[in-house]
Amino acid sequence: MSPDGRRPLVGGNWKMHMLRGEAEEYCRSFVTGLGDVAAEVALFPSHPLLPAVAGALAGSPVGCGGQDIHPEEKGAHTGDVSGPQLVDAGCSWVLCGHSERRQDHGESDELVGQKADAAIRHGLAPLICIGETLEERQANRTFEVLERQLGRALAGRPDPFAVAYEPIWAIGTGETATPEMAQEAHGFLRELLADLVGDEAAAARRILYGGSAKPGNAAELFAQPDIDGFLVGGASLDPESFIAIIRCCG
Ligand code: 13P
Repeated sequence: MSPDGRRPLVGGNWKMHMLRGEAEEYCRSFVTGLGDVAAEVALFPSHPLLPAVAGALAGSPVGCGGQDIHPEEKGAHTGDVSGPQLVDAGCSWVLCGHSERRQDHGESDELVGQKADAAIRHGLAPLICIGETLEERQANRTFEVLERQLGRALAGRPDPFAVAYEPIWAIGTGETATPEMAQEAHGFLRELLADLVGDEAAAARRILYGGSAKPGNAAELFAQPDIDGFLVGGASLDPESFIAIIRCCG
């Protein structure tokens, strides 16, 4: 727990990896190996795997979530997934605005806000992903980008929610933000949240770090006052390394 009472949160974003048999095998060894941990934990498999993963996690404290959500409840939207479908598949969380969706599918800040809003309407907790590119950081535009992304994502006032700060230059590159760089961004986001949702909600909301998080760097990142856990990509594909990261969180 942070001094403000925030329980750590760690998500495993499997992206477009794993087949059903591998996913079920993963869940078995993950749940057995995890034991008692301080953090809340959720897995984010790709959509076809959700029922199998939710089933394999049933009765365990590990939750699961979707990697995307359509703003509408149903309709002619080929390839999309709705909030009620995610709930029906066993989800309690959903990622909104991951940088790979912004890049691969042209998701705008406004669309991410509509997705976060839809998540709340359907009883899912949105994990809103934001982060700057290398060019934006080098041009000293990091804070401006974060302010725009978070402001627009929360324009429909979804609450509760969690935020993942994922600098794009650190995703899948092996290059992690230093604890000081990450804390600078997280501290800025905490202040921004106070302006957007008020002091009390800002103190309660969890801000996760994502971008080449691994067992070797998680403890010093988690030691920063405004880092409340991780959204892990590559290292979450191996149950042992994911568990090692979770154990760094209190
Ligand atoms: P990596 O941990 O593989 O860098 O991915 C981070 C990420 O994008 C999690 O959503």
